[in-house]
Amino acid sequence: MRRHHIAAIPGDGIGQEVIPAGLEVLTALAERQGFALDVETFPWGSDYYRQTGRMMPEDGLDTLKPFHAIFFGAVGDAHLPDDLTLWGLRLKICQGFDQYANIRPTRVLPGLTSPLREVSPGDIDWVIVRENSEGEYAGHGGRAHRGHPEEIATETAIFTRAGVTRIMRTAFAIAAKRPRKLLTVVTKSNAQKHGMVFWDEIAAEVAAEFPTVTWEKELVDAMAARMVRRPQSIDTVVATNLHADILSDLAGAVAGSLGVAPTANLDPSRRFPSMFEPIHGSAFDIAGKGVANPVATFWTAAMMLEHLGEAVAAAALITAVEQVCAAGILTADVGGSANTAAVTAAVVAAIKGANAA
Ligand code: IPM
Ligand code: MG
Repeated sequence: MRRHHIAAIPGDGIGQEVIPAGLEVLTALAERQGFALDVETFPWGSDYYRQTGRMMPEDGLDTLKPFHAIFFGAVGDAHLPDDLTLWGLRLKICQGFDQYANIRPTRVLPGLTSPLREVSPGDIDWVIVRENSEGEYAGHGGRAHRGHPEEIATETAIFTRAGVTRIMRTAFAIAAKRPRKLLTVVTKSNAQKHGMVFWDEIAAEVAAEFPTVTWEKELVDAMAARMVRRPQSIDTVVATNLHADILSDLAGAVAGSLGVAPTANLDPSRRFPSMFEPIHGSAFDIAGKGVANPVATFWTAAMMLEHLGEAVAAAALITAVEQVCAAGILTADVGGSANTAAVTAAVVAAIKGANAA
């Protein structure tokens, strides 16, 4: 039997609720589709920090390295600085495992309503490919003259030929596998004349390796407008770490809710385990109430299954989620009245009721 070793890190806030829900549907799927999951759960995050002074143990990456995938909830705490919690856990894993490709699919699921008047389910089907290892998130920069009137802070975006080339290859390869074979390369090369012009040049170089893909350039501000005005004209998108961060929140919003948006932090070379997480974050305002939307985590779980070579199970999970959403079994953030447990139970029932592959 195929066995997959999963490290689960629920983390903070609603991560503690959606990751167990995700594991429940994964267990039902494994039974139905005939594979096995060995899951080990790690208690890392902000509470762990309060007890130990660290977000994860010093040798945390060594512990995670043998796993086939990491199933991650969220990180962020009302009482701890965001940069501490983020750099202490999530970014440490992303950067330590060189998960340089962040993949963010967006669709309007059946039963969900886009705030865009003319958009219905099926009209939006995007994949945003976010550079996840450098750019504006490289951590380059510093502070000098602290506390004095001449105090200075620099935050330098880093773009390397290797880094830009590999994310372009990933994005072109994803576009090449999708029906429309259309890639939009997003930059701000009119104003940022070094790093962003470099992106455009490398995009043109890599494009030569993918003759079946149609590609175009778009400035990030124009792209934001296009996502609202002409969403049907978009398919696959590649952008820098910060630009894609912003565009993917906009994508989640036009699809109806950030509560359904999944993401994969991939090391496409498979030297290290990749990490799969819902985009929504810890949402401590609703944590502990049992009302978090587990759909983003289910979709995330489907991306993880795909990465593990379980494409049939991944498709079965998406079908189950779509059935449940279409039946109106939804949490409050998307206009329903079901809680996390009810949505989870409905998805498990849909999985059990489906024909095994
Ligand atoms: C995301 C989030 C994070 C990011 C935050 C929590 C730093 O917004 O995954 O998009 O910007 O990477
Ligand atoms: Mg974000």
